[in-house]
Amino acid sequence: MTKNILQFAHHLLENTIQHGDTIIDATCGNGHDTVFLSRLAGEAGHVFGFDIQPEAIEHTASRLKQESPFHNTILIQDSHSNFLHHLPVDKLTRLGGAIFNLGYLPGGDKQVITQSDSTITAMEGIMTHLKAKGIIVLVIYHGHPGGKEEMEEVMKYARLLDQKQFSVLYYGFINQKNNPPFILAIEKK
Ligand SMILES: C[S@@+](CC[C@H](N)C(=O)[O-])C[C@H]1O[C@@H](n2cnc3c(N)ncnc32)[C@H](O)[C@@H]1O
Repeated sequence: MTKNILQFAHHLLENTIQHGDTIIDATCGNGHDTVFLSRLAGEAGHVFGFDIQPEAIEHTASRLKQESPFHNTILIQDSHSNFLHHLPVDKLTRLGGAIFNLGYLPGGDKQVITQSDSTITAMEGIMTHLKAKGIIVLVIYHGHPGGKEEMEEVMKYARLLDQKQFSVLYYGFINQKNNPPFILAIEKK
């Protein structure tokens, strides 16, 4: 059975994250992934969630309160490209995974979108600090204005990663209409 894009994104993280790991939600948005990560990290783990928009941080905080039993998540209103300023060293050394949902905040301002420069800066930093066998999952929405440009830059960057150090996986449905999102997952060897 195939999994849809969000199911498969979560499946990859479920199969990777270990007890006590740190996980990054690079784009909290309305908090769906952040709640999932909080539940996945459990009592022993830690989640750091980033978004540049205050309403995304507020939505995520209220969703976490209602839907996760764990107090393991710190929400930060800043660009994911600055994640290193916010993670203490002891949490950074246990970095097991990260997720990005590229695009705009559903129900929010469609002009505020993720941008290739900050996305790739954050990816690079996370890849440096990721544990062996850790994973970055990118859910790439590209149908909105600016989305195609970001997708192309991210794909160009990912294609050139050294296969001795990283495995890069593509998962998507090639017969769906209207620019369906797809997954790019980068696993550190
Ligand atoms: C597609 S939405 C995320 C959806 C979210 N995962 C969810 O479950 O609802 C993309 C989010 O990225 C945020 N964003 C844009 N640029 C960012 C940046 N440089 N750092 C962190 N978040 C950013 C936007 O504000 C938006 O909320």
